[in-house]
Amino acid sequence: MKSMLEIRVVTLPDGAIAPENFDLFDASLPAALPGDSVRLRNDWFGLNAGMRSRIGQAQAASGNQAALTQRYAGLLGIGDVPQSDAVAQVLESTAAAFKPGDWVVHIAPWRTLDVVQAGKLRRVEVTADTPPDLYLTALGHAAFTAYSGMVNVGQVGARDTVYVSAAGGGVGSYAAQIASLRGARVIGSAGSAEKLAYLVNDLKLTAAFNYRHTHLADALADFAPAGLSLCYDNVGGEQLEAAIGAMGDHGRIVLCGMVSRYSQQSALAGPRNLDLFIKRRLSMTGFTVLDHEGTRPEFEASMRQWMSRHELVVRSTVFKGLGALPLAFSSLLKGATIGRTLVCTGAGA
Ligand SMILES: NC(=O)c1ccc[n+]([C@@H]2O[C@H](COP(=O)([O-])OP(=O)(O)OC[C@H]3O[C@@H](n4cnc5c(N)ncnc54)[C@H](OP(=O)(O)O)[C@@H]3O)[C@@H](O)[C@H]2O)c1
Repeated sequence: MKSMLEIRVVTLPDGAIAPENFDLFDASLPAALPGDSVRLRNDWFGLNAGMRSRIGQAQAASGNQAALTQRYAGLLGIGDVPQSDAVAQVLESTAAAFKPGDWVVHIAPWRTLDVVQAGKLRRVEVTADTPPDLYLTALGHAAFTAYSGMVNVGQVGARDTVYVSAAGGGVGSYAAQIASLRGARVIGSAGSAEKLAYLVNDLKLTAAFNYRHTHLADALADFAPAGLSLCYDNVGGEQLEAAIGAMGDHGRIVLCGMVSRYSQQSALAGPRNLDLFIKRRLSMTGFTVLDHEGTRPEFEASMRQWMSRHELVVRSTVFKGLGALPLAFSSLLKGATIGRTLVCTGAGA
């Protein structure tokens, strides 16, 4: 057997998630490696807000939501190991496509080592200019989600006035930048003064406001008096309702996520202003990044070009060690991290 460490759910959250809902365990992997598989070491994890919707009782009061979530990814209970996207290095291989030393990206359980079938891995090239963690930030899942929603679904362009909610986070900070880089005016919201400064000073957004201290409808009306043409929503709830109210005629809404609902115990009423879809000829499209894999090459080419011109800000909040995954996750959900939230578990941790 090969010994390793893993994080398991030990209690189910009742509302906000806390580091105490998880614990670190010694575990082991079989010494023998099955065919067409690799043994790998997970060196970097990228945290995702969406994992919250898979943990605990939050779905119990909302039957439809529970059914949808179960179909989407499967709920986790006590004893289960959460997952994130991760960059890993191959240690041993029985797969023709991989050899020791290769770098791969995969959806990884929160453990130091793993045995994974070759078909579940995507090889990436790590170089001096492209460190492993770049495959979780500018070239990773969150940025690809941002690109898929903003470009493929939203068709963002220079004539757009765009609103991005949770704009200081992993997905939002890339969605906001991609819209700016394609010439749009971009308004972002976030929940702290530090994030607002980041949005305006570093990402150069047209405007940003703190949704915790601002009347949402007034802020959007001030910054987009002629109406929004595109909204990229990561939050749902009140922010989505305010955005619908601020849309101009023929406005498009891209629904990426509903982070305001992931910790809630009861089913909530939806936005109360759906009549505006008729009056203003609005459209709203939900998407999942999993359906956009075919556009990964153009996504990577665009991101690499923007980085080579120093036009893209790549910022992450890094925690160290496998045991820091629960704190990193709860910090992300509280809004206490900026950019993509990462945990380094390899060299340097
Ligand atoms: N459709 C897809 O395929 C897909 C794929 C990946 C992710 N997503 C979605 O993308 C969104 C962002 O995910 P991420 O992993 O990049 O997370 P993130 O934006 O890095 O972190 C989530 C942020 O949301 C904000 N937030 C938390 N609770 C909130 C609330 N009640 N009201 C308003 N804002 C709240 C917090 O920032 P502030 O409060 O400071 O603003 C928090 O930091 C999530 O909704 C996720 O589900 C969708």
